[in-house]
Amino acid sequence: MAKTKTYYRCQECGHRSPKWEGKCSACGTWSSYVEETEETGAGPRRDARPAADARVKQEARPLPELTQEQVSRIQTGISELDRCLGGGLVPGSLSLVGGEPGIGKSTLMLQLAAALAKGGHRVLYVSGEESPSQLRLRADRLGVKEHEVHVLGECDVDAVLLECDRLSPSALIVDSIQVMHDRSLTSAPGTVSQVRQAADRFLRLAKERSIATLLVGHVTKEGALAGPRTLEHLVDTVLSFEAEGSSIHRLLRSLKNRFGPSGEVGVFEMKGDGLGEVPDASRLFLSERRSGAPGSVVLPSLEGTRPVLVEIQALVSPTSLAQPRRTCVGADSGRLGMLLAVLQRRAGLEVVDKDVFVNIVGGMRLRETAADLPLALAIASSLKGQPVPADLAAFGEVGLSGELRSVDRGNLRLREAAALGFKRCLVPRSSGDDAKGPKGLKAVVVEDVGEAIGRVLSGR
Ligand code: TYD
Ligand code: MG
Repeated sequence: MAKTKTYYRCQECGHRSPKWEGKCSACGTWSSYVEETEETGAGPRRDARPAADARVKQEARPLPELTQEQVSRIQTGISELDRCLGGGLVPGSLSLVGGEPGIGKSTLMLQLAAALAKGGHRVLYVSGEESPSQLRLRADRLGVKEHEVHVLGECDVDAVLLECDRLSPSALIVDSIQVMHDRSLTSAPGTVSQVRQAADRFLRLAKERSIATLLVGHVTKEGALAGPRTLEHLVDTVLSFEAEGSSIHRLLRSLKNRFGPSGEVGVFEMKGDGLGEVPDASRLFLSERRSGAPGSVVLPSLEGTRPVLVEIQALVSPTSLAQPRRTCVGADSGRLGMLLAVLQRRAGLEVVDKDVFVNIVGGMRLRETAADLPLALAIASSLKGQPVPADLAAFGEVGLSGELRSVDRGNLRLREAAALGFKRCLVPRSSGDDAKGPKGLKAVVVEDVGEAIGRVLSGR
């Protein structure tokens, strides 16, 4: 039998070294060596002929003849989580749940374990960071007492595999992948090589025994870390748990999903007794809106396929500086600069010599060009000191000549706005069919940003 040998490879340039070095001797990068294993014996083949003992498990077949495997998903019972997973947990799938320390990953996982157990599924919760008694304390706080949640305080991958043999769980939670360690590697737990090796073994376990497996991974503020990022290609689903806005709200985003649409978002709030679901995110982000204040406009935005209404605020004030200030919280400052130039040149607004502050309420971050029109309106409204009607929302991309361009899923946006009581919504002309407003809401078609401002704000 071949013996395994380990060596170190620079992750930047691929240079190989028999021992670990702090700095790569080939490319000079620091801390880039990662332990890898190699089967010793005959070297790798270098020809195009198949090996004598090569076998094809299943011959290639024409696409239409493939039988479609029925994915029966496990409904977790936490609908905000099911939404992110694309409808439920897929047996045999491997998911990565990333987030900063203290954001609530362990809390979410324990609640998930409890919900699965309630649905009659056996769960193995591997707690490598907290001792089982600490976990018990948390469970008491959350009111989790399900019998089918089995807790294992272990960091050794092989021990976890043994317990999986014994218990045959439907779901396995590994909290966290950074503390797991595989004895076949000599490097310390938490290093990239250990994290990858452990994840690789859990991947095999998940596929072979059809266990829905979730790996928890810590991501630092910079997003860089030895671990989770390097696993993203390996796993089926990447969920990122983030705090957005006020400190109690948490967004669970699916960054990658092989079994459903990615970009889905689940909204939670952290309470004294765990994470609660927030099914009605729009109401949340608009709850403290002051109607009648200039500089505030509502955008029906999309988070994944989910419409969420967000309030955009702008404050324009005369500057005392040679270089006016432009401050943007939650929006792109390059985009703001462009909009200000368009407003100055195409809509005749004197904004170039003013300080401009933009804020997206609730700490949301705008990622879409659909925010251009409401942002432009908010700026115009603040400049003129006139409020935009409280029952008006707007979306649309603004081009350099001031023209409005359509954005996707106009219908969905209009429906959400109507559901929250908005009566009118400015939409770009090119919205076509999208622009038919739902019952109770009138879609006001506008062609350029100057016209939009003229329609809602009188006088210049
Ligand atoms: P935790 O799940 O331990 O975070 P992570 O696993 O991502 O590091 O949660 C940490 C925070 O959540 C902690 O500061 C306390 C808070 N929390 C609550 O506010 N309510 C609760 O019911 C629980 C269990 C935790
Ligand atoms: Mg934790």
